[in-house]
Amino acid sequence: SKEGYAHYMLKEIHESPRAVDDTISGLISDIEDVKNAIKILEESKRIIVIAAGTSYHAGLYFSLLLQREGFNVIPVIASEYYNIKTNQEDSILAISQSGETYDVMIALKEFKANGSKIISLTNVIDSAIARQSDVKLYTRAGPEIGVAATKTFTSQIAALQFLYSLIKGDDYTYLNKAKDVIRRSLDFEGEAKLIGEELSAKSNAYYLGRGLSLPFAMEGALKIKEITYLHAEAYAAGESKHGPIALVEKDFPVVFINLGELVGELQNNVQEMKARKAKTYAISVNEKLNTDKEILLTVEDERLSPFAVTPIIQLIAYYSAVKRGNDPDKPRNLAKTVTVG
Ligand code: F6R
Repeated sequence: SKEGYAHYMLKEIHESPRAVDDTISGLISDIEDVKNAIKILEESKRIIVIAAGTSYHAGLYFSLLLQREGFNVIPVIASEYYNIKTNQEDSILAISQSGETYDVMIALKEFKANGSKIISLTNVIDSAIARQSDVKLYTRAGPEIGVAATKTFTSQIAALQFLYSLIKGDDYTYLNKAKDVIRRSLDFEGEAKLIGEELSAKSNAYYLGRGLSLPFAMEGALKIKEITYLHAEAYAAGESKHGPIALVEKDFPVVFINLGELVGELQNNVQEMKARKAKTYAISVNEKLNTDKEILLTVEDERLSPFAVTPIIQLIAYYSAVKRGNDPDKPRNLAKTVTVG
């Protein structure tokens, strides 16, 4: 049941604090599996992260975190698996909410046949993808009914950040605060609704981010395309001047995602867009970008920034879809689980 919420998507966004908390405690109770996964990742020459759609964005975020630590990580869109040849010295991290996505299954089979070690992160116990893996890890978001991934994405981010903290040898207990950070962001629902409703009247939008913000810009744009049917594109903010800015004219909406790093560079990108009279928005953590409209979130520990930003990008998409009269739970042309290639 929707428990009083207008749609499952909205209910599931609001379930994110609980989903994230259950995910972390589940991983702590499965700590032997987590340790096995970490051993495999640390001992391999390359780490190949494969996933599709929203799960790919979670995988990209994890890849950036590890790349910054000097790991050799290659994020691969599952349906593009043929561009990489793996071997016994590689480890594979497959990320899939459903645990059944065809493209991920096909890629896994190929990589497994090459002798690579497989770790999976799925939201369904003993999912098809989990059964193909040497180590099975789980998010514990609970069933997700809305076609758009919301609480499962936030849970993937939590699980991957947990792994990353252990790999770094850091204390992971800061993640216990993720649920409070999400709850505080959910207090900005009214502000997110206003931005979503403004975007719903547009026909194009850019989502820009730098560094760790980029996967969240990509996720924000995907959500908008998926349920609002508005053409939204994500770019690395610095790339926007290498072509995409040509489209920008008066009132073209540009949404900046700002996790609180590389803020000076992002502020320069805002100025470039303002100079073209774009309508600028920002979802910012701890430091403002001074856009036309900005939601400023605060976190004590910037490692928790993803949990501040994610509910907002999801709510913006949700309210823009509702404003257009679309059913966000059942977007046209899409299925919850894509079991065909
Ligand atoms: C976006 C969305 C899809 C899925 C993709 C992968 O909201 O739901 O992009 O993320 O189809 O699905 P899983 O994670 O089940 O492999």
